[in-house]
Amino acid sequence: VNYFLKCVNCGTVYDPKEIMYTCPKCGPRLGTLEVVINEYPKHSSFDLKSKGIWAFSDLLPIDEDHYEVPLFIGNTPIYEKKALAKKLGLSDLWIKNDGRNPTGSYKDRATAMAITKAKALNFNTIYCASTGNAASSLAGLTAASGMKSIIFVPKTAPEAKITQLLVYGAIVMAVDGTYDEAFDLSTEIGNEFGWYSRNSAINPYLLEGKKTGAMEVVVQLDFKVPDFAIVSVGDGTVVSSIYKGFKDMKTIGLIDKIPKIIGVQAEGANAIVRTFESGHFDRPVDIDAHSIADSIAVGKPRDVLKACKWVKESGGYFVSVTDEEIGKAIIELARETGVFGEPAGAAAYAGLKKLAKDFQGKSAVIFVTGNGLKDIKSAMNFAGRVNYVKPDPKDVKSVLRQIGVIQEG
Ligand SMILES: Cc1ncc(COP(=O)(O)O)c(C=O)c1O
Ligand SMILES: [Zn+2]
Repeated sequence: VNYFLKCVNCGTVYDPKEIMYTCPKCGPRLGTLEVVINEYPKHSSFDLKSKGIWAFSDLLPIDEDHYEVPLFIGNTPIYEKKALAKKLGLSDLWIKNDGRNPTGSYKDRATAMAITKAKALNFNTIYCASTGNAASSLAGLTAASGMKSIIFVPKTAPEAKITQLLVYGAIVMAVDGTYDEAFDLSTEIGNEFGWYSRNSAINPYLLEGKKTGAMEVVVQLDFKVPDFAIVSVGDGTVVSSIYKGFKDMKTIGLIDKIPKIIGVQAEGANAIVRTFESGHFDRPVDIDAHSIADSIAVGKPRDVLKACKWVKESGGYFVSVTDEEIGKAIIELARETGVFGEPAGAAAYAGLKKLAKDFQGKSAVIFVTGNGLKDIKSAMNFAGRVNYVKPDPKDVKSVLRQIGVIQEG
């Protein structure tokens, strides 16, 4: 596929053979690059079932004989929830469960692209900084591809995510600092040693892999487009990619509108909300970030400019939710739909709950971007408690009476 790179800030166009990461004029923060595909093929059938994300190969900036990670990525399930939609006053509600990817998060879509690019450029070592999911994804997909990964995570990342890294054989640097610090540290070291970067926003191809999530929704809904698409936001790449996926499908002529994209942040990590509301997208507001939703606990978002511009273009906006609302959303989403999301995954549902009164009669899709088993500690705090019993039916019955499951007598 024929494509070029374009700076999202100054609009300068670059040849992908000359520039790998960001615009030299605008620097890595504002000068993130958009991949612009010259001409899309005209087609309308996509074999999701056997190909996953590679069903969209000719809409991606890759060669025809590109490398594909030998793991099945994408074609994650989408569920229509009629009763829940009715309860919330919506005309329709769909839940896209991306926790079903091979390493349990949306990030596998991006990592697959990074590996395809690294193989084409003859790199064998890839590094990244991550709150945890990009890292576990990189560790898993490099293992499957016979490559090496070097990972920088804040040492506070959930145990399950760090365990994934070690199990897959990554070299792990648990940084005594925030994700934002781990990011800058990784870039410095990665540049010095010449490893390939899978850092959010810096690598323009990650977003292209991520856009397949929105494209899948279009295909799975048989080219029907929801009014709103809701997803949680850390660095801002995923939310931008969802806009791009819908936009590409519109460019090809398969749909005639783009949903309003709604980005959901944690209140203690709402840097993009603040920048968006300031109206000055090229002057990002950075903060100290804190949230139980570790995946979106980002204080210095790297794709802030793109996220603000593209969400605005879609007619959407950003909203923040409290940790309490996120915790409750994990439980409610699981009990209403059977989908167990990690805090950042359930945050999208928390955002929907918050905005439901404005969405009356409209349709929405929410992206659950990470699997609940990745962070059980946060879920446990909101999940209720177990009943401890002796191995004795009498004791069980007494407890069942106490909690009102069976009647006295
Ligand atoms: C589960 C989950 N949801 C949402 C996001 C947000 O993505 P982005 O940082 O691109 O905004 C992440 C990123 O780490 C994630 O892991
Ligand atoms: Zn530029």
